[in-house]
Amino acid sequence: MSVRPNSPAARDIAYHLHPYTNARRHEEQGPLIISEGEGVMVRDDQGNQYIEAMAGLWCTALGFGEQRLVKAATAQLAKLPYYHSFAHKVPEPVIDLAEKLIELAPVPMSKAFFANSGSEANDTAVKLIWYHNNARGRPEKKKIIGRIKGYHGITIASGSLTGIPVNHTDFDLPIANIVHTGCPHHYRFAQDGESEEDFATRLAAELEQLILDEGPETVAAFVGEPLMGAGGVMPPPATYWDKIQRVLRKYDVLLVADEVICGFGRTGSYWGCNTFNIKPDIMTMAKALTSGYVPMSAVLISDEVYQPIADNTAKVGNFGHGFTYTGHPLAAAVAMETLKIYEERDIVARVRGLMGPFQERLRRFADQPLVGEVRGVGLIGAVELVADKASKALFDPPGKVGAYFVGRAQAHGLIVRPLADTIAVCPPLIISEAEIERLFDAFGQALDDTQAWVSSEGLASVA
Ligand SMILES: Cc1ncc(COP(=O)(O)O)c(C=O)c1O
Repeated sequence: MSVRPNSPAARDIAYHLHPYTNARRHEEQGPLIISEGEGVMVRDDQGNQYIEAMAGLWCTALGFGEQRLVKAATAQLAKLPYYHSFAHKVPEPVIDLAEKLIELAPVPMSKAFFANSGSEANDTAVKLIWYHNNARGRPEKKKIIGRIKGYHGITIASGSLTGIPVNHTDFDLPIANIVHTGCPHHYRFAQDGESEEDFATRLAAELEQLILDEGPETVAAFVGEPLMGAGGVMPPPATYWDKIQRVLRKYDVLLVADEVICGFGRTGSYWGCNTFNIKPDIMTMAKALTSGYVPMSAVLISDEVYQPIADNTAKVGNFGHGFTYTGHPLAAAVAMETLKIYEERDIVARVRGLMGPFQERLRRFADQPLVGEVRGVGLIGAVELVADKASKALFDPPGKVGAYFVGRAQAHGLIVRPLADTIAVCPPLIISEAEIERLFDAFGQALDDTQAWVSSEGLASVA
């Protein structure tokens, strides 16, 4: 791509360090500048339209033009644009939102704490767990278990919980007291002939062994996404969560459910915890909480977690945790309106109605020579591309074919996300059945193009 001097693209290259971007490649190719959005569509600055099949970054559940959220935001900005929640103060919408989230929680929860991103929510969960155990007089019970390929964000603690090498390499992560257990992806990690149930039994046994090796008196919590998202969209194998929870209860290990992607209908129930029968002590959420329109995240804690924390704040004299934007009134007002819309439009019923056609269209790609596995639940799914279908061999180097696919998808008017060579799809929940058809038509064209390119480059052992 040639970049005109002093164009927006040239200025982006000159002044902007992009997240999750190869900076040197960006200097050569420049950005895709997205200017407008409406429904499930976005438009770039050249007037090209795309189906945004990732809801941005798994977040714009209500699409890109929900005027009720715009109105809720402007009304709140006009009334009270900023206030905080430190030292007993609070803006009104934050009270409404805390009450609403406690009402919506899949298990009895006691208090909501607000932050601005999924990473901050998970960092807060880690700090609350450490504080809780100090308050209970067991300062040695501090280790937190994440999972290989789990994704919990990129700040120091949540980035440590994340189990993806690129988030650790050269960032000096993970920090101490964070350990990782096995990834529950049957296609990649089950042994030959191992059923989903046997795989889940083995993973639970591995978790138990890890806890025993570390010393149960040192293990405080386990953090997991109900369905793993950014690691490759991996639904858990049958019986996994039942078996994992049994181990956690046995060793008095708290369970943190990271609902940042799964929450608010994505998996066909209100929470991923409902879909997979998870009973967490702590939940974190973000993204669809405001349909992505304003940054906001929340942490819900059970009463058992809360009480020692509250006692300790009285002992210390203060609770030394909170952000300038904890419970921002703009974000809280937009979140409240978002939750109201989910309720009025019965977003869960909508997802249940669409997930059949969505998953069926996705699974039609399973027979393609480049496709190793197709997987998903509700309105989230992925297609894993492989160099060899029979042996499940990965492409070398990983990510090159995924990047090519995404480029071809873009040429066909579709934005999807490569997670190495796994292509994720996670559209706004307001998508229509006709738009699902268009999405997968464009996906199929990109797959055909990728197949032709892989064959011509000799990248795979496929016909
Ligand atoms: C499950 C999960 N947790 C946490 C995060 C981190 O959220 P943020 O990027 O808002 O920090 C993400 C982001 O994709 C996520 O998918």
